[in-house]
Amino acid sequence: MLPRRRRARAGLPAAAADRTLPPAALFPQVALYLAERRMGRSRRAFLTRLARAKGFRVLDACSTEVTHVVMENTSAQEAGSWWQRHGAAPNPGCPGPMLLDMSWFTECMAAGQPVPVESRHSLEVVAPGKELVRPVWLSPYACQRPTPLKHHNAFLSDALELLAEAANFEGSEGRSLSFCRAASVLKALPSPVTESSQLQALPHFGEHSCRVIQELLEQGMCEEVESVRHSERYQAMKLFTGVFGVGVKVAAQWFQEGLRTLGDLDKQPHRLNQQQKVGLEHLQDLSTPVCWPDVEALQQLVVGAVNQALPGASVTLTGGFRRGKSQGHDVDFLITHPQDGQEAGLLPAVLQFLKKQDLLLYHQYHRSRCRDAAQLTRHSHSMDAFERSFCVFRLPQSLETAGEKPSQSHPAWKAVRVDLVVAPASQFTFALLGWTGSKHFERELRRFSWKERGLKLNSHGLWDPRQKSFFLVSSEEDVFRHLGLEYLPPEQRNA
Ligand code: UTP
Ligand code: MN
Repeated sequence: MLPRRRRARAGLPAAAADRTLPPAALFPQVALYLAERRMGRSRRAFLTRLARAKGFRVLDACSTEVTHVVMENTSAQEAGSWWQRHGAAPNPGCPGPMLLDMSWFTECMAAGQPVPVESRHSLEVVAPGKELVRPVWLSPYACQRPTPLKHHNAFLSDALELLAEAANFEGSEGRSLSFCRAASVLKALPSPVTESSQLQALPHFGEHSCRVIQELLEQGMCEEVESVRHSERYQAMKLFTGVFGVGVKVAAQWFQEGLRTLGDLDKQPHRLNQQQKVGLEHLQDLSTPVCWPDVEALQQLVVGAVNQALPGASVTLTGGFRRGKSQGHDVDFLITHPQDGQEAGLLPAVLQFLKKQDLLLYHQYHRSRCRDAAQLTRHSHSMDAFERSFCVFRLPQSLETAGEKPSQSHPAWKAVRVDLVVAPASQFTFALLGWTGSKHFERELRRFSWKERGLKLNSHGLWDPRQKSFFLVSSEEDVFRHLGLEYLPPEQRNA
């Protein structure tokens, strides 16, 4: 017979029948520790409650008492080095706890008692170079993993993103989000997916997304994706929502009323608001991607106007271009002044200056809705409340050869969408983080903050509802640190 300690370490249910013990310690020889790493705080809390309800001892700290450490999606190598850094030094003569895969825990929960540890419960040993063939693991939140702009699975992620977009057109937010999450996981993989078995260990891959990828891998195309892509509804919605000022709701309404083409819109100008008219009038320019020379030219114009309106104010490029994109649908600038409050009401003067130079085709000004960051963060809206303007610039084009006359192929100017946002210095870091995107990255960062840390994050601040306090930050790195996340530079936020 094994000595008592060894017996427990082998996972044998020595005390299972001892009903005199309190329910919280039916198996006193087994002391579990669930590693939060890659499990997430909320899942860990759930599993802890489950195990305790079944009479298991679950320890909150990795002390010398721990006999079984349960880890999720972790290779044996990773687990070993994690334990060296986080585990308590074992008592002399003790080998330390067993590091086990989640499958052991799951079987224990199903059996209602500790099950013997077998080789299938060991953490996977990943052979060097092999991890690329079978992606073992990826963090569940996009803000926990770097996502570069150029990645290895664009063919697959594009298909899922099309389904996400189509679901969004139907108003199915949840479905859209599921496809977005799966697409975003593919973007973060270090190598191309070549077999659908590689998806098994990945987060956010439900049955539907798996099926789409499998079909793409096996047949080079997915019937569902192609049928959506060519559907009358998707095509019309894509066309309408591509017009500046037209959102999903309006486009869906038009579709329902039988409108299908831009010609149909032209015939019904009374349906269009001013913004949409401008969008339609400059459709060709506005649907041509903005590129870097345009961004640089625009930055000069905006800096000039801002300096004129408020000396000392600064202009920072945000959005996709800050993440390293070479093209974009618009250009996003964030304006601030080192002295809090000085920036208030700055935008009308900037816009007026730009207008006088004939640089604006359209602008829609929104004054700041509220200056109290505390209130703005506590009652988080998806929209922020900064002073801002959605503009269409009339951007002069440099004619390549000196003396060249403007013509149809070389027009003198081009319409470009620009967003100008003004933030007080005290909220600047959060505004910068919030406006750098990507949209999915921001959504995930906020979801992580709330679900895993119980903190409210938006473009105005980071709020702790338990302490009723704000985090003071001076850089984006500070925000990541407060959230217990590894810092990701903008070019790794292309989730
Ligand atoms: P964009 O829509 O401009 O996206 O929003 P992008 O990443 O620059 O890509 P392009 O322009 O399509 O090439 C930039 C970021 O600003 C935030 C979003 O989080 C997005 O990630 N944003 C945008 C807001 O916070 N509020 C808004 O009203 C709009
Ligand atoms: Mn943008």
